[in-house]
Amino acid sequence: MNVFSTRLASGILSTVKTKSRESRPAVSPARSAAFDILFRVERDSSYASELLHSRTYDRVAQADHALAMELVLGVLRWRSLLDSDIAHSSAQPLEKLDLEVLTALRLAVYQLRQLSRIPARAAIHESVELVKRARKRSAAPFVNAVLRKVAAGVEPIPRSFESSMDGSSVRTLGASSAHPPWLVERWAEAYGLEVALKICQYNQSIPATAIRLRRLDSEVKLRMEGIELAPGALLSSARLVHLGEIRRTAAFRSGFYAIQDEASQLVAALVGHAAYALDCCAAPGGKTAAIADRNPEANIVAVELHPHRAALLQRLLRPQPSAQGAGTGKIQIVAADARDLPFAAKFDRVLADVPCSGTGTLSRNPEIKWRLAYADLADLQQRQLSILRSAMNQVAAGGRLIYSTCSLEKEENENVIDQALAQDPSFRVVDCRLELRKLQREGELIWPDPSTLTRGCYLRTLPGANACDGFFAAILEKL
Ligand SMILES: C[S@@+](CC[C@H](N)C(=O)[O-])C[C@H]1O[C@@H](n2cnc3c(N)ncnc32)[C@H](O)[C@@H]1O
Repeated sequence: MNVFSTRLASGILSTVKTKSRESRPAVSPARSAAFDILFRVERDSSYASELLHSRTYDRVAQADHALAMELVLGVLRWRSLLDSDIAHSSAQPLEKLDLEVLTALRLAVYQLRQLSRIPARAAIHESVELVKRARKRSAAPFVNAVLRKVAAGVEPIPRSFESSMDGSSVRTLGASSAHPPWLVERWAEAYGLEVALKICQYNQSIPATAIRLRRLDSEVKLRMEGIELAPGALLSSARLVHLGEIRRTAAFRSGFYAIQDEASQLVAALVGHAAYALDCCAAPGGKTAAIADRNPEANIVAVELHPHRAALLQRLLRPQPSAQGAGTGKIQIVAADARDLPFAAKFDRVLADVPCSGTGTLSRNPEIKWRLAYADLADLQQRQLSILRSAMNQVAAGGRLIYSTCSLEKEENENVIDQALAQDPSFRVVDCRLELRKLQREGELIWPDPSTLTRGCYLRTLPGANACDGFFAAILEKL
């Protein structure tokens, strides 16, 4: 019995049946994991990347983990196209299918369409076995029949995707690039059709893993462990992983570097130098750690609403002896609601990296596009505005507040800033272009044209147009 298969996450599958004669599992570890994760993403609204990198899957062989990741993210990226294939070949409407059945179908159709190295019979057979294991044995012949029909007429995704992604119409773009049309329509309106096309293309591709080096010798340590790196696109302290499973290195466990998209690193760089810093929405802690590394002498308070996420923050930020020089020594972690901050003190730097829709991170979190509804933006805006208003009360005179999101939607960005400033005129907006030029002069920002990272006086990175996630940031200075 495979070790991994006894440690399945969902609890819906507790064992993997073995073929009676050989002791080979009927379902490979990669497909077991992919099925379980996809099931939980749909049933519990979990996040795929959190599950993929959770402890449950720590001991899965590297090749199996890589395939599981490709299957999970591929299915989520292309879900609407896969569903349309299934709908064409199924006598049952999709809404009537049990989630276990639909998940097994999606998994196989993705392999049939996209992974030419996997024989069709293996993809079909293992999905049939998966529904049996999920105690949906009676659906096995149905799954088999649908998949055989799909396999007979399957088109690989890239061909159909690229040929119809000519940008001629927003609706075509939404359908062919597997995005909800309402989102693509908004991006085309806000940024133009050409940029919307780039965003969609970026979202459907596997993004590079970016890291932030925490010490001068981090890079050498990683190379010694066989990791191949290339320079970052935006920042001198960033590297892109070209080869190797970076999360499994001793250098990662010892805290020599942090995995962090370059746009997120850039937001933390905009916080600049601080003596007393407050991070209002801190978990999992990527930006807190970056602020601490830049300001080893600073006193930092990191606030997080959810106690389990505050514990995660604690783990990430605990001082690591082997990463001396990394400044995590003076961070106080507080589980509290940033809408009602419990501090009398004022801070010279405050970061409000607020909860948001995440539409700037769809290449890493493709499930978001299937969950988000237009109406959610208004709820998010209310929460963001409450956090921002409360954060503004913590800024010392002459101090700065950095408001940021990983959303492409103006409701969560410019509109929040406009409303907050209308309610409290004791702040002025600092032009991000000036701050980026300063970072460029200091050798930190290596991107040659900072104006392509801004929109008006705000930071505005766009996936595909820039080689990073889509982040927004505004800098407000207390008068
Ligand atoms: C965008 S994430 C922050 C990412 C983090 N700054 C980083 O770089 O790793 C937003 C975080 O805010 C937390 N959060 C949501 N509502 C909050 C509130 N009212 N007060 C404090 N934290 C909150 C969420 O649980 C989540 O961990």
